[in-house]
Parts: sequence; structure tokens; C-alpha cells
Amino acid sequence: MLEDFISIHDLSLYEFNQILELTEQIKAHPQRFQNKLKNKTLAMIFQKPSLRTRVTFEVGMLQLGGEAIYLSPSDIQMGTRETPYDVGKNLERWIDGVMIRTFANQDVVDFARACRIPVINALTDLLHPCQAMADLFTIKEKRRDLGNFKLTYLGDGNNVCHSLLLGAAKSGCNIMVATPPGYEPNPEILKLAEEDGKETGSRFHLTDDPSEAVKEADAVYTDVWASMGQEQEKDKRAKIFAPFQVNKGLMAKAKSDAFFMHCLPAHRGEEVTDDVIDSPQSIVYDQAENRLHIQKAIMLLLLEKKNDD
Ligand code: CP
Ligand code: NVA
Repeated sequence: MLEDFISIHDLSLYEFNQILELTEQIKAHPQRFQNKLKNKTLAMIFQKPSLRTRVTFEVGMLQLGGEAIYLSPSDIQMGTRETPYDVGKNLERWIDGVMIRTFANQDVVDFARACRIPVINALTDLLHPCQAMADLFTIKEKRRDLGNFKLTYLGDGNNVCHSLLLGAAKSGCNIMVATPPGYEPNPEILKLAEEDGKETGSRFHLTDDPSEAVKEADAVYTDVWASMGQEQEKDKRAKIFAPFQVNKGLMAKAKSDAFFMHCLPAHRGEEVTDDVIDSPQSIVYDQAENRLHIQKAIMLLLLEKKNDD
């Protein structure tokens, strides 16, 4: 049974598919689930900014009959005022689950180990699993068959890229990742993706050539070039990543019905141009909507039975 949601790699194939199937039901029949988390509370620890994650977890809890409590970096000052361990040991006495957005992925792993209540990874420097689950759900919703799907990710080999690699491996879709040299995905993540892909037949390929990467792509996905915490590298990265901009010219090299995808926030005019993100091929707001449905499924699976005995 699912205890925490930290990395897609931790999920069995059964659990991975269970989340997608439950999401489909929740999205189609939200009223059937409206009291499932009555009287349950979720603490939301944010060490970085957020629009989508905060709103979708908070609204998701509300729609399931529970409540979410937002804890900003200045509220609890995790790591300065108190160790993550002590924060967890307190929260587990009052709360039914915790969602964390922070820098080091190891902090989330350690927090979950210390804490008896379920912990959800809401983005670290290494991973963004809720995002990738919502993205795969969005693709599945539109195309059904992930087996013959080619997802191309362009840009930085970052948290979103890592979770997409791990998600693609579980879902059976093929993924092509194009990054400038030196910005490739983490080798440990590639090892896990290779391992997980053996079970489903999913393959990944790496390249530094954006035109090559988008050939035959069913979806072209990008993310910001400088992630939260890398703001001081923004100018340097803008030069290095310029050839990876998703513009009309690059999209024209993918399949004619290819989707454009982005986790958002987007830096328009940098990694993507307006004429792509605002085009009919763009499904970015469907991805954002599905964050709500996927996280409701994850919270239900983690919190529904817990602490009832
Ligand atoms: N995609 C995403 O996680 O958005 P926020 O940073 O706004 O939560
Ligand atoms: N890679 C981005 C994703 C934001 C949702 C970041 O970490 O800032």
C-alpha cells in the first residue's frame, strides 16, 4: 500500500496505474468523492513560490471534504528555526498528511522517514512527480495509447525532466531528451528510468540536437531554463539554451498534430514563443487543470484509510 508519494520510481506498476485510473473517476464524477477526506488535514510546506501546486492542493482538499494549511518559508523557517525532523515530529501529532516543496530531495526523504504520516513531494531540485503524473494523465486522456507515443523534452535536464523520464518508464511511452552539453539529466535518474523501462518496454534517448529530437514527436515539452533557486544563472543560461527555444519553426519539425506541453510558469519569449504556447496545439492549461485531479487521487490513496483505526 502506498505510504508516501516522493518519486514515481517508488510506485509499483499497479500503484502507478491505480493513480491514473482513480484520477479518471474523480475527474468524471467529483461529487462521488466529496466527503472522502472529511475532517482530514494536510499541511503544505512551501520553501519555494507556487501558483498551481498551492491552489490545486488546497482546492483539492476542500473538494474532498478536508482542509489544507499553508505554511510559508517565513512561518516555520524549516532548517533555521527548527530541523525538518522536529517539524515532522510535531506535525504528525496534529495533521493527517504533509505536502512539501523544498530544495534538497533528501530532505523530503528524511522527513518522510521521520514522520508517521504520509508525505507528498510537491517539487524538489531533483523531482516534480505530481507534475509528471498530471502530464501523463493529460496525454493518456487525449490519446489513450501511451505505448506508441513519443514525448520529446527540450531544455534543462531538471526536476521536471527527471520525473517525466521516470513517469515515461512506468507508462510505457518513449521519451527523447534534448539538452545542451553539461545540462543532461542526472545519471542516477537515467539508471532508474532504464531499469523501470524494461518492465514496460519504454525507452529513452538523449541528444544535444533539438531538430533531431522533435522529429516524429507526438508531444514537445519544455520548461524554464533557470529553475527556482538558479535565478543568478539566468543570463548565462539564456545564451546556452537559446537554440532549444520551442518556436513555430521547431514545432513544424514535429508531427503535424503534436502537442505542445509545459509545466508552467512559462517564460514567454525565452523557452517558448507566444505563437506556440497560445496555439491550438498547446495543452498547457489542460496539464495545469489535471494537477488538481491527479493530486486528489494521490491524497485519497494516501490519506483515506490512514489514522482511522
Ligand atoms: N507547475 C507548477 O508546479 O507550478 P507552480 O510552481 O506554480 O506550483
Ligand atoms: N523546473 C521548474 C519547475 C517549476 C514548476 C523549477 O523548479 O523552478
